[in-house]
Amino acid sequence: MKAFQMLFVLLLAAAAEGQSLHFGKCPRPPVQQDFNVAKYMGTWYEIEKLPALFEKGTCNQATYSLLSDGTVKVLNAELLSNGKMNSIEGVAKVKNSTQPAILDVSFFKGAPDSPYWVLSTDYQSYSLVYSCTYHYGSLHIDFAWILARTRLLNKEVVSQLHDELVSAGVNINNLLVSDQAGCEQSKGLLFHSSAKINERPIIGILAQNSRYLPPNSTGYIASSYVKFLESGGARVVPIMVNREAEEYKRLFNSINGVLLPGGSANITSSGYQRASKIFYELAIEANKRGDYFPVWGTCLGYEQLTVLTSGETLLTRTNTSGVSLPLLFTKEAKQSRMFKSFPAELMEALASEPLTENSHEWSVSLLSHNTNKDLKNFYKVLSTNTDGEIEFVSTVEAYDYPIYGTQWHPEKNAFEWRRPCISHAPSAVMNTFYMAQFFVNEARKNFHTFESEEEERSALIYNYNPVHSPPNSGFEQKYIF
Ligand SMILES: *[C@@H]1O[C@H](CO)[C@@H](O)[C@H](O)[C@H]1NC(C)=O
Ligand SMILES: *[C@@H]1O[C@H](CO)[C@@H](O)[C@H](O)[C@H]1NC(C)=O
Ligand SMILES: *[C@@H]1O[C@H](CO)[C@@H](O)[C@H](O)[C@H]1NC(C)=O
Ligand SMILES: *[C@@H]1O[C@H](CO)[C@@H](O)[C@H](O)[C@H]1NC(C)=O
Repeated sequence: MKAFQMLFVLLLAAAAEGQSLHFGKCPRPPVQQDFNVAKYMGTWYEIEKLPALFEKGTCNQATYSLLSDGTVKVLNAELLSNGKMNSIEGVAKVKNSTQPAILDVSFFKGAPDSPYWVLSTDYQSYSLVYSCTYHYGSLHIDFAWILARTRLLNKEVVSQLHDELVSAGVNINNLLVSDQAGCEQSKGLLFHSSAKINERPIIGILAQNSRYLPPNSTGYIASSYVKFLESGGARVVPIMVNREAEEYKRLFNSINGVLLPGGSANITSSGYQRASKIFYELAIEANKRGDYFPVWGTCLGYEQLTVLTSGETLLTRTNTSGVSLPLLFTKEAKQSRMFKSFPAELMEALASEPLTENSHEWSVSLLSHNTNKDLKNFYKVLSTNTDGEIEFVSTVEAYDYPIYGTQWHPEKNAFEWRRPCISHAPSAVMNTFYMAQFFVNEARKNFHTFESEEEERSALIYNYNPVHSPPNSGFEQKYIF
């Protein structure tokens, strides 16, 4: 942090370190109109920045809180490579009340204040901050931060903020993308306490029709999906098929994530497909607005996601119905949001032992994935598998959205006993809980709520009783609606 003070002295050193040093006076970009400092309080995560010497770590975040004298307490925190959290406190104040979006921040007594200009913010999702200091009559150094309320900000919003910086006369060639992967979990629990988290997440699981159901039932959910999410600390609401779009929209605005389970529904034309499409499109739109809404697809659910993303059915027959396989991790897996905070031993076990259960006759081959532009640009492949002939995609996460898919079944190891190929090895069961914890943590970043306690109560899965399935079923227990 000393570097922060030195910065203003060691201009040349700064230049050598890649700081954004330019000739001439500071630009004076327009700032956020009618800036409301109270609405701006809380935690912001760094998404991109112009290089700043005084920031060395990852998971950078700033938490602002109003003090009684009208100034703002600033708490900047980051995670260092040695696993320790580094934080620094400062105070920000508005210089001239006619321009509330122009603040000065000071971190040390006696150190020069640095400007903090809020160029634009919607308070809910993004903020664009600019800081420039002018030196010795000929040079200026500038800093810019793109901040967000969540650790992921939609690319289109980021690109609009780039445009704003450019039209303000700021050189954005040196903008760096900040590393915000895997910050909440084992990597830095301390971050948890300061970030706003929904500790009472509720996740919707989509039901589906099946010809094996009693004639007047409308759908089923295998209990293992419910237990899976409950084991991560979430409550579940069933999403029934064939309901009005308005009802789905209302439910979407009440819950914190959606899981599309495996099964045998038709993914181009069915109640399952229609409801998936409605929730998927609402999720995309919400995430673009900065309303973080995670979606998970397992097996058929993953296949459904690929149809929704690409508009095509790109499935290939594979010999994979009832086999456990080790994951063939891609080089992106270790740094992925999903796996970044998994223990190394678990990653090793997943890569070397047949722990992940596959129950599908169709797959998205790696070739189909890579030759379809929509899929390739949307999903990062985290693992593949092969049936001995065809290499298929087995785990994905979307680049810009909290959307995840597994062709295999993470929920089965702890909760399903009917198929001999399901591994109940300790590391396989542990994986069930790590996957559940990951997805439920994603849902904890969403703040939708039911309009009343009564409405929440009547939506929850506790209103239904699972039944023990007959011996020929693949599931131990099912909810039948
Ligand atoms: C505050 O800003 C207004 C308009 O921008 C200016 O007229 C006024 O002199 C400023 N006040 C101070 C104390 O700098
Ligand atoms: C199925 O429909 C019949 C006839 O409408 C009804 O008597 C029965 O209670 C229904 N069963 C269930 C489980 O809803
Ligand atoms: C899904 O439904 C469509 C339209 O009814 C049909 O053409 C298609 O064959 C079905 N797919 C499967 C796998 O049954
Ligand atoms: C399918 O895979 C199983 C092993 O999982 C193997 O025993 C079987 O011979 C394969 N069938 C075909 C048609 O390749």
